Amino acid sequence: MTSAPEPIYVTRPHLPPLADVVKLLEGVWDRRILTNGGPLHQQLETELAAYLGVEHLSLFANGTLALLVALKALRLQGEVITSPFSFIATSEALSWNGLEPVFADINPRSFGLDPRSIESRITPRTSAILAVHCYGFPCDVEVIQRLADDYNLRVIYDAAHAFAVDCHCGSLLQHGDLSILSFHATKVFNTFEGGAIISPDAKTKKRIDRLKNFGFVDEVSVAVNGINAKMSELHAAVGLAQLPGMAAAIAQRRAVAEAYCAISLACSTCNCRISARPHSPITPICPCLCKTTHRSAVMPCWSCCAATALWRGATSIPSSPSFSTTAAMPAPIRPATPRRYGRHARCCVCRSIPICP
Ligand SMILES: Cc1ncc(COP(=O)(O)O)c(C=O)c1O
Repeated sequence: MTSAPEPIYVTRPHLPPLADVVKLLEGVWDRRILTNGGPLHQQLETELAAYLGVEHLSLFANGTLALLVALKALRLQGEVITSPFSFIATSEALSWNGLEPVFADINPRSFGLDPRSIESRITPRTSAILAVHCYGFPCDVEVIQRLADDYNLRVIYDAAHAFAVDCHCGSLLQHGDLSILSFHATKVFNTFEGGAIISPDAKTKKRIDRLKNFGFVDEVSVAVNGINAKMSELHAAVGLAQLPGMAAAIAQRRAVAEAYCAISLACSTCNCRISARPHSPITPICPCLCKTTHRSAVMPCWSCCAATALWRGATSIPSSPSFSTTAAMPAPIRPATPRRYGRHARCCVCRSIPICP
């Protein structure tokens, strides 16, 4: 008899078998090479690049440092057009580089930057577009590239949520001048803390590898104003142990994402009309923008899909594949009478508005 797959809990990190990590750490203890591009770091860079279908990948201590270094590597100045609908690290990385974030509108259905809004924000001071593949949904990469070409801008993708997301031409991470990933504990592929930059060529990777290691070109010479953003051997060991389990973990999340998308497609109040195929999001959190019951304001909420289905009278949310957003889900939680909370409908799981944690 095959046992049912474990439910996915948004708040519970995905871990590899401990024995696999310990085995790799025994080698670290034997070698006493703990960081500075050790053998596990090199192995993870190679294996991860192959897994993701990219050629040039540099590991980082976290995704925020990867973003900081990516922006620095492109020698940007002035204003950078970016998304207001992202984790704070996206705009913080701009400010830390002395760049001015200029927010454009997003498309409420894909959560990506709306190219028309980007164009309306371009000024003579604009040097780049920092777009976000929010929740793993691909941005309109071709239109954004056309805009960048027309106005001579660089394009950086914050792909923190877009691990192993493919587009029509292969890995989504190949678009733009640089893409960054986060391997934070919240991500399906996590190294506890970690991140990466995907470069288009070996020369750019070399520059980025120098920047993340204080700007050293050899043991004694510093060529650029760098920083320490390297991933340690310990974190690389976790990453190597994670890789064999990734295909199954992602397949399970894709099935969950498809279940959510099916609900959102059937929902009359929901603004979100994203089909889960062919580019299923694989982050555990996938909100949709729902029209509230009282006004036409939109309410972003990661459990809206489930909440909306329940409010509309469903007695349960799809049980196959099993999915959970918290320990309390997916138990049927339809209130006897749908409750109204003033101006906004509240999330039926956490009762918060407008954005659940
Ligand atoms: C969109 C986005 N960008 C950047 C980051 C920063 O990544 P990290 O937490 O690895 O520093 C995150 C983290 O979740 C994120 O969601």
